[in-house]
Amino acid sequence: MNIEQAYDIWADRYDTDQNLTRDLDQQVTVETLSPLTFKFVIELGCGTGKNTLFLLTKAQRVIALDFSEKMLSQARGKITDERATFRRTDITKPWEIPDHFADLITSSLVMEHIEDLSFIFNQARLKLKTGGYFFISELHPSRQYLGSKAGFFDTEDGRVNPTAYIHHISSFWDSARQNDFHLTILKEWFDTGIEDKPPRLVSFLFQVQK
Ligand SMILES: C[S@@+](CC[C@H](N)C(=O)[O-])C[C@H]1O[C@@H](n2cnc3c(N)ncnc32)[C@H](O)[C@@H]1O
Repeated sequence: MNIEQAYDIWADRYDTDQNLTRDLDQQVTVETLSPLTFKFVIELGCGTGKNTLFLLTKAQRVIALDFSEKMLSQARGKITDERATFRRTDITKPWEIPDHFADLITSSLVMEHIEDLSFIFNQARLKLKTGGYFFISELHPSRQYLGSKAGFFDTEDGRVNPTAYIHHISSFWDSARQNDFHLTILKEWFDTGIEDKPPRLVSFLFQVQK
């Protein structure tokens, strides 16, 4: 099943299913981005708008992109703030947003579904202002080496298993530096009290070289 179809099926349960990865990502996003100042934000793979709500507590404008119409309609149902624009977009195609629009681009739990990381970093570089930030929070690859995948869930018709790609931590860094980013924060996030098992998430805060 392709990724878009899988999320269309998952959309009406995404916010309510038990999901430790989703919940930890929300904490990581708030903790990492709260100290930053930003006005114009592009959110990649916004899904049901879980993090859009937080971004709107600080931003003047959020352009939130996702290719699942059903995930987007959950987000639109929840968020009517005019500062947020939800656009159906496949982020593996050139993003139709003016260059140097954003001072922050965020991506939570999306890169696992993207084969070519360097395309995403290239687009992010084009759309960010000098000094702008690119925040990524993602399933930790050490979990993937052991077989974990996001978006892996049961329905009445069986198990949904959207395509997922493994990106090593060094692959994020390679794509970032090839596109003139430097790394300001790298963190690994564990389930509460469990630090002798692979971390659940990894997060990066990259910044466009000034
Ligand atoms: C695990 S969900 C994460 C949603 C949200 N960021 C969150 O943290 O709750 C992954 C999202 O990425 C979207 N996605 C995956 N590949 C995409 C692509 N190529 N273009 C746009 N959206 C994509 C899916 O539709 C889905 O909504």
